[in-house]
Amino acid sequence: EKIENVLESAKEKASGDLLFTYKGVLYPSVLCSPETFQKLEGFEARKDDVMLIAYPKCGTNWVIQILHEMVFMVTNNVPEPDFSMLEFGAPEKIERINQQPSPRVLTSHLHPDNIPKSFFTNKTKKLVIFRNPKDTAVSYFHFYNNNALLPNFSSWDEFFQHFMSGKVCWSSYFEHMLTWNEHLDDEDVLIITYEDLKENLVAGVKQIAEFFGLPLTQEQIREIADKSTFQNMKAKSQKTHGNFGHVIFRKGDIGDWKNYFSPAQNQEMDDSFNKYVGGTKLGAKMKY
Ligand code: A3P
Repeated sequence: EKIENVLESAKEKASGDLLFTYKGVLYPSVLCSPETFQKLEGFEARKDDVMLIAYPKCGTNWVIQILHEMVFMVTNNVPEPDFSMLEFGAPEKIERINQQPSPRVLTSHLHPDNIPKSFFTNKTKKLVIFRNPKDTAVSYFHFYNNNALLPNFSSWDEFFQHFMSGKVCWSSYFEHMLTWNEHLDDEDVLIITYEDLKENLVAGVKQIAEFFGLPLTQEQIREIADKSTFQNMKAKSQKTHGNFGHVIFRKGDIGDWKNYFSPAQNQEMDDSFNKYVGGTKLGAKMKY
């Protein structure tokens, strides 16, 4: 489904409810439906699926592009470009995914407890990306306020409170992190951070290729890294993401939170981080 069509239907729905709740979690009505969630429960993951899981705004689109490039280089398969996000779209989309040749590039924002069980039982390799929650929150705020799929917040302060209490789509950032912390040492899980990827994109691309067992030369790794810088992805965003491009490829920086957080909000976030994941291995990996 093309993003433009989805945005059109968003405009139609805008007068109705933009969000719905499924099993206690908020989702955007235009993108997700209970029918698709129900159908996903029986989804058959394959061992050779290339699966990316990310809390919203942690760098999903960035890593999808990296994975698409990799799989294309190795297999010449052009992965389904638009909307590989598992939980988006009508239930019939799942049939199309079922028919895709391996290796399929799949993505989800779902909390690990809501990801189809077969991704765990079939030992599908799962790449997970996290980002400093402060920058994630700022990015999410802009995303909420700059597209027709989600309700608007009247201020950053109002959004911040929703983010902290998990009253945002796909629920609490910290709940996701806490659960993934339990999987940090699983051999079929690789957790990376936005910050590490940004600091050394070539090394990150190499690590991802090795994790999925995709045989790429050093030259191919460099080529993928070069295509996947923020500037290069932003420059092509109209082509790859249509009018949604400028919403997704906003700043691509580390530390924009400093322009938004009050000292009190900074303290509140630090306290939550420490309460939830302070002292955990994943917490340490975040170099928070
Ligand atoms: P900002 O809003 O801080 O700019 P997602 O894809 O999960 O929705 O995440 C979007 C965030 O990732 C946006 O953050 C976007 O700019 C950033 N991003 C996308 N591509 C990137 C890239 N190639 N390098 C760095 N950041 C990127």
